[in-house]
Amino acid sequence: MIERIDHIAIAVHAIDASLPYYRNELRLVLVHDEVLPEVGVRLAYLDAGNSMLQLVEPLAAGPVATFLAEHGEGLHHICFAVEAIPDVLQRLTGETEARLFMGGRQRRCAFLVHRPNGLLTELTETRPSAALVASLAEGARE
Ligand code: CO
Repeated sequence: MIERIDHIAIAVHAIDASLPYYRNELRLVLVHDEVLPEVGVRLAYLDAGNSMLQLVEPLAAGPVATFLAEHGEGLHHICFAVEAIPDVLQRLTGETEARLFMGGRQRRCAFLVHRPNGLLTELTETRPSAALVASLAEGARE
């Protein structure tokens, strides 16, 4: 059901201020950097070998900004890669309320309702969404 850890997310006030440590000190490679306007966050993905670190910077009021105000910077959530989120949510107790949304790297995501051991947990699909694949295929035909 769960394939691997996709990323470990760290909430930060400013990605530009945080990146030099990860890139220059830890020598991690920045593989993706994007803004999700609908979610109100900027995400930076660093290749950590068998998984990724995701720096999350809030660009608007919302859960990440609230987290930073309450806890300061630090571990925000872990994310598991799964084949199909709806199938997994069906199998988990009490997770039918979890809301699917388009997350980073054009993959469907959902945060679990439950926080096992207090940890915010996200699921993401191993491949970009079918809608994105279809739109890319359409673009390639033009
Ligand atoms: Co995430």
